Amino acid sequence: MVAAGALISGAGTNLQAIIDRIADGRLACALRLVVSNRAGAPGLARAEAAGIPTQVVDHRNFARREDFDRAVVAMLREAGVELVLLAGFDRLITPVFLEAFPLRIMNIHPALLPSFKGLDAQRQALEYGVKVAGATVHFVDQDADHGPIIVQGAVAIGPEDGADDVRRRILAVEHEIYPLAIQLFAEGRLVVEGRRVIVRGPRPALPPPLIHR
Ligand code: GRF
Repeated sequence: MVAAGALISGAGTNLQAIIDRIADGRLACALRLVVSNRAGAPGLARAEAAGIPTQVVDHRNFARREDFDRAVVAMLREAGVELVLLAGFDRLITPVFLEAFPLRIMNIHPALLPSFKGLDAQRQALEYGVKVAGATVHFVDQDADHGPIIVQGAVAIGPEDGADDVRRRILAVEHEIYPLAIQLFAEGRLVVEGRRVIVRGPRPALPPPLIHR
């Protein structure tokens, strides 16, 4: 069982997928705290409905990113969090955060990294013309969308697809691979060797790549 905290800024569908997977007994994780930097984030209501404590920490109230990070780190520590889940969190984190939770911060990005880092990755992939897109769960390091890759899942892109189709299809994969990555962490099966994350033991039930149409 791993004690986790999630950072969100928006819809929180990944958070919901994690909540659901915990509820049905397939994810050995306790969500101790959900922090949003935006008061109106719909994900907050999802956390509240699941009985998870929430905090809003508005980044605009802090002069520097490091000050914001220090405040959030203190809350996560207070809540006994061991693993931090960035789940649609729209701020960059600083070394303050990384040093507090070394190799204990995960992020999900809606692209097959290292392709299409940054904003609107699904549209970037569509416009580039790739035939296979996807999502990545990775440990967070000092560079955005860069740290060691834990799980990836792939989707096919067809000629008729628009950005919304790609977004929806990738989101469905996100909802599978994020809980999977957390479960592997909870089982103590992730070993980081440089850039590579070795998964010890039997292959996961949903081995990548997952091709969804
Ligand atoms: C997801 O596409 C995730 O990959 C990206 O932000 C989006 C968050 O969606 N980092 P949600 O808030 O989990 O619905």
